[in-house]
Amino acid sequence: MCGIVGFTGAHQAAPILLDGLSKLEYRGYDSSGIAVRDGLKDTEVLKAKGRLKILKEKTNDGKSVKGTCGIGHTRWATHGEPSEDNAHPHVSDDGNVVAVHNGIIENYQELKEKLVRNGYTFYSETDTEVAVKLVDYYYKKYEGNPVDAINHAIIRIRGSYALVMMFKEYPEEIYVARKDSPMILGVADGESYIASDVPAILKYTRNVYYIGNLEMARVRKGEITFYNLDGDEIEKEQKVIEWDAEAAEKGGYEHFMMKEIHEQPKVVADTLNSVLKDGEIDLSGVGLSAEEIRNISEIQIVACGSAYHVGMVGQYVIEDLARIPVRVELASEFRYRNPILDKNMLVIIVSQSGETADSLAALREAKLREIKTLGIVNVVGSSIAREADNVFYTLAGPEISVATTKAYSTQLIAMYTLAVQFAKIRGQISDEQYMGYIKEMQTLPDKIRRILEDKERIQWFASKQMNAKDVFFVGRGIDYAICMEGSLKMKEISYIHSEAYAAGELKHGTISLIEDETLVIGVLTQSALFEKTVSNMVECKSRGAYLMGLTTTGNYNIEESADFTVYIPETDEHFATSLAVIPLQLMGYYVSVAKGLDVDKPRNLAKSVTVE
Ligand code: F6R
Repeated sequence: MCGIVGFTGAHQAAPILLDGLSKLEYRGYDSSGIAVRDGLKDTEVLKAKGRLKILKEKTNDGKSVKGTCGIGHTRWATHGEPSEDNAHPHVSDDGNVVAVHNGIIENYQELKEKLVRNGYTFYSETDTEVAVKLVDYYYKKYEGNPVDAINHAIIRIRGSYALVMMFKEYPEEIYVARKDSPMILGVADGESYIASDVPAILKYTRNVYYIGNLEMARVRKGEITFYNLDGDEIEKEQKVIEWDAEAAEKGGYEHFMMKEIHEQPKVVADTLNSVLKDGEIDLSGVGLSAEEIRNISEIQIVACGSAYHVGMVGQYVIEDLARIPVRVELASEFRYRNPILDKNMLVIIVSQSGETADSLAALREAKLREIKTLGIVNVVGSSIAREADNVFYTLAGPEISVATTKAYSTQLIAMYTLAVQFAKIRGQISDEQYMGYIKEMQTLPDKIRRILEDKERIQWFASKQMNAKDVFFVGRGIDYAICMEGSLKMKEISYIHSEAYAAGELKHGTISLIEDETLVIGVLTQSALFEKTVSNMVECKSRGAYLMGLTTTGNYNIEESADFTVYIPETDEHFATSLAVIPLQLMGYYVSVAKGLDVDKPRNLAKSVTVE
């Protein structure tokens, strides 16, 4: 949600900034801008409404902007519509401070009034302009010390921010401050980089620092100094990013989403192998002891979007295998509900980015109540990974497409391994069953690969459905959870209205929406529920629906009812989501491509939702 970059070093800054922004465009793409400074000369600010390519054209790929120090931004509008005025960077009245910002300043109205009383004028509707001018106000008040000025400003700002600033009197330097919005700082020989996410700097350096909440930094060429809220210098450990630089490139695929769909066999295997030792599950790296697992009274899974759908699957699998009561809740609801939490509860937060504002707030709520927390997180060093008591890292690598695919699949396998290990430690399954489940999980990557080999059939069907007005996904039990993800994949990238329904619930209202040729996709991977779901699909068919059945190889009698069928390889039914979701991801993808839409950057969305 908004991407920020910064660079100071020996090279021309603009091409590096634009390159970094292109890797972050999934975070926001309604406008963009850069500010570049050449030695002591005035800062040059360039902005453009719309996609980054417009800014690239305007600056001849950055070649027309001279200077070795600069900052940049790609925006996902929160305060103020997408426009050049509202685009970042923002500049203080006399050009003293130039800044880009990611996050939301909640008390910006109150701060703006204070600044207006002190003679400041405003040209945009953004909260960021308020932040820039507030820093400028304190800069003047405290006689030109950037760290003091920022310090005074952030004490007064309520909300979240990753602020990146340049000061007129400090050429070739950049200052940053952070609270609850992601930001990493990278260093290489004589150069320093700032970014809201790893892919923006991976090409240039792997040596990074994670700046903490309410901390500031002075960034010079190849040298970064950190400060706490008192303005005292603090030490930071340098970390090395392990991600492969190629993982953040399209690698011959037309879209990141397709590339990421194809990476699923590998990343699922990598994530599973990361917790297997001598053929058994070993959660010592995650930090959960057998004693702790035995004592869990209840599990609360909290997440947003697709990660919440993983939680839904987790609920069925953990309850069935480990017999621990599980509740799943949307993070945005959990945080304001005053939840009743037992002290022996385990709260699991699922998040690819590790920065989703609501999920982070839910984690903090649980911690405040002294409940043990476990993060299932993809981005190393992210806020949730740092703040959770325990972390299960999914090894999906960088996920660039806004619609998640591979991160979702790795979250699922993480959830299964927790379920199987909890079941074993709590004596709910025999050794033989335990080994059977592990073996079955090991077959999943290959089965995913096999489904992908048959993708052209889905492509053909998707092209026929590209004009659909509504799509309904129906299933029971785990299949209902799969439907939720299938439906989200469809609507978010194809803009076709879709809904997921527990199949038995349709006749309580929704069935009145079924018309001639309405597409109803039934998911039927759970044998005990197969007949029931078929009946519900047939109810839709008799009202004119066109039926697609997604089921396991062997269930050929689905062809008696469904107009189009897709089969997935057999697996233990607890793990069927990992296979059934693949054709549904492909459906969403191919419908979006057939409609000529921007698959990787659907309208109005951004990856990593760092605002409420
Ligand atoms: C949908 C999607 C989102 C995310 C959600 C949570 O394709 O990607 O629904 O799952 O925004 O994001 P994370 O996992 O980063 O907390």
